This record gives sequence, structure tokens and C-alpha cells, in this order.
Amino acid sequence: MSEGKSDRKVLRVLEGEAIGPPPAWMMRQAGRYLPEYRASRAEAGSFLDLCYSPDFAVEVTLQPIRRFGFDAAILFSDILVVPHALGQDVRFVEGEGPRLDPLNGRDAFGRLREAGDPAIFSHLAPVFETVKRLRAELPGETTLLGFCGAPWTVASYMIGGRGTPDLAPARALAEGDTALVDSLIDRLVTVQTAYLVRQLEAGADAVQIFESHAGTLPRAVPASGDIVEPVGDVTESALPGEAAMDALTRWSLRPIARMIAGVRARVPHAKIIVFARGSGLDGHGRVVPETGADAVGVDWAVDLKVLRRQLPATTVTQGNLHPDTLIEGGDALDAGVDAVLEATAGLPHVFNLGHGITPQTPVAHVERMLARLRR
Ligand code: CP3
Repeated sequence: MSEGKSDRKVLRVLEGEAIGPPPAWMMRQAGRYLPEYRASRAEAGSFLDLCYSPDFAVEVTLQPIRRFGFDAAILFSDILVVPHALGQDVRFVEGEGPRLDPLNGRDAFGRLREAGDPAIFSHLAPVFETVKRLRAELPGETTLLGFCGAPWTVASYMIGGRGTPDLAPARALAEGDTALVDSLIDRLVTVQTAYLVRQLEAGADAVQIFESHAGTLPRAVPASGDIVEPVGDVTESALPGEAAMDALTRWSLRPIARMIAGVRARVPHAKIIVFARGSGLDGHGRVVPETGADAVGVDWAVDLKVLRRQLPATTVTQGNLHPDTLIEGGDALDAGVDAVLEATAGLPHVFNLGHGITPQTPVAHVERMLARLRR
């Protein structure tokens, strides 16, 4: 077998080809459910330090590829290395998740590095080194994915200081400093566009943009009536003069579209997946038309069969097995895999979970999932 890009099935699907059975990878596939990850992790330092250690990051990225032969590897890092590179204090508290010094006003914002500051990319240099080494070490047929967080999700961590869906940025908006949130989003668009370009130049075949907090953004009620009530009480009245644009477009899809256009201006053939978690059936349907992404990552809350019926047959999807179904295993797992296959038969689809795999998932269930998929 030649080791050309054409052997990379995930990349081929992202280019529009339907492959049966679909190629597969899992969000958070390098992680604590794997004993070898826990062993590597026990020997090393803080989680963030590990993200900047190419030796560690390469090793743990390769672990799930060696064990399961996934069709794609995703760079081991975190969406919060970008706020860290901008000069914000970021810590990971064992058992609690990320903690940042909240950006609670213009003074704190003023202390962040400007978008053009070269210190941002010297800080992130180990990530590019990891990508470069990964492309050299991975099997030729494995697609290498880079990633970053979407501006809204990263901004909400930066402003809120933590991951709880407490709508801190939205609250800042409601309190009237829309301009501040806009400048933060703008800075993230600029920095992360360059960040993705650098990952692609270092050897990533494609990139995924994680909009994990899309579900906190209110959406205009679609004709189908599918609407998920947003958490909190942000209304469109918080967005004066922009009544025609709902919050999902204003704060999520439009900034992502700007990033995608910016990446393509530098890397014309870049393949980009957008995962807008919690945006509902209607929100998922808007991702590709409104952002220009090559594929929409589908969360577990969406009925994939219904979504696929609404989307053009040429739209590339990815997802969406429920991580709890993977924990459950057995017949329920087989049925879950079959449902994804049935919903996407003959269509361009990348098999994945509908959110990240959780630490309590038995490794044997991942094996069973893949055996069912590849049978
Ligand atoms: O998917 C992969 O295997 C690649 C690596 C990856 C990590 N984080 C490693 C990680 C990716 C793509 C991410 C993205 C990420 N990080 C997101 C978007 C995806 C999503 O889950 O919605 C978000 C919101 C974050 C922020 C973050 N990082 C949180 C909320 C947490 C704590 C939750 C947890 O599982 O502990 C992290 C920590 C984190 N990022 C871990 C890993 C493997 C666990 C840290 C550890 O090993 O102790």
C-alpha cells in the first residue's frame, strides 16, 4: 500500500466521499479511560504542562491509534492553551476541571496579549512541534486532526473563569459591555485563525472547531418548532439593532465563519469540522450553510436520522453515538452503532461519539463498538 493522503479515509469523507462502513475516531480518545494514558499521566506533571510537552503529547495521541486502529488521531492538547498563550492564568483542578482568573472587566482585558504579539506563538510552539512529529510517526492512512475552541466557547471560559454554563459572557453582554465581548471575540478569531493555519502547516490534515457552549445561545424559533430552551435569560433585546440575527449566528456561527474564511485564505484546501454542541436539530442544520464548514459534528441529543433527512445528501456529518450508550455496552451499544449506520448509509459520514468519551468507559466496550462498526 502506498502511504498517500488518498488512503486517509476520514480526509476522504471530509472531501465528500461516502465510505461504508464509515471511518471512525472518538472525541477525547486519548484520555483517562485508557490504562496506558493514566500510567503516562501519573509519571508526568500538571495537565497543562503535558499539553506543552511534545514527548508526552505525541505518546498519548498515539495510544488509542495503537490499541484500536482509529482512522483519525486528534492532537492531544486543550482548547484552553489559547487563553493561556494570551497571558491569562489557567489551571486544571483535579476532579473539578479548568479554572481561569476571570476576565472581569476592561483592566483584565487590557492585560491580555494583543493578537499580533509574537509571544503568543512562541508559547504555542510545542503544539506545532507535536503536530509535526505526529504526522511523521502516524501510519500513512491515519488522518491527523488539529483543533481549537470556537471563540464563544473560549470567551465564555475566559470571562466566566470556569466551565459551568453560567452564561458569564452573556451576562456581561446584558450588563451592557457588548463592545468588550466583541473585542474579545475578535481577538480570538484572529489568534485562532492563525493557530489553525499553523497546525495545518505543521502537518494536520484537517481541523475541528469545538463550540461546546453553543447550547447557551438562544436561537430564533425555526418553522419545525425544534427549539431547546437556552439556560439563563439572555434575549435578543441584549443585541440592539441586530434583531434579524439570533444569538447563535451573532456569537457563534458568524465568528466561526470568519475563522474558516481566514483559514481558507491561507490554506485553500483546508478541511474543517464544526461541532456546535447543544444547538439542536435546527442549529446543526445551520452550521454548514452559515459557516462554510466542510462537515458538521453532531451531538448525541440530535436525532441523526431526522437531521440527515433534512440535510442535502452531499453534506458531511460526524457523530453521534451517546457516550452513555458506550458505557452501557452490550445489545444497547450494538443497537446504537446500528442506528448511526442506518441513518447515514450511502452518505458521507465519519463515525464518532456525540460528545467526549468519559473516564469510566470500559475499554472492552470501545472494542465492541468498533467490531460492530467494521463487521
Ligand atoms: O479529544 C482528544 O482526545 C484530544 C484532546 C482534547 C482534550 N480537550 C484533552 C483533555 C480536546 C480536543 C479537548 C477539547 C476541550 N477541552 C473542550 C471541547 C470539547 C468538549 O469536551 O466539549 C473543552 C470544553 C475543554 C476544556 C476542558 N479540558 C475541560 C472542561 C476539562 C475537564 C474535564 C475532564 O474531563 O477532566 C479539560 C481537561 C482535559 N482535556 C482532559 C483531557 C484528556 C482531562 C485531564 C486529565 O488528564 O486529567
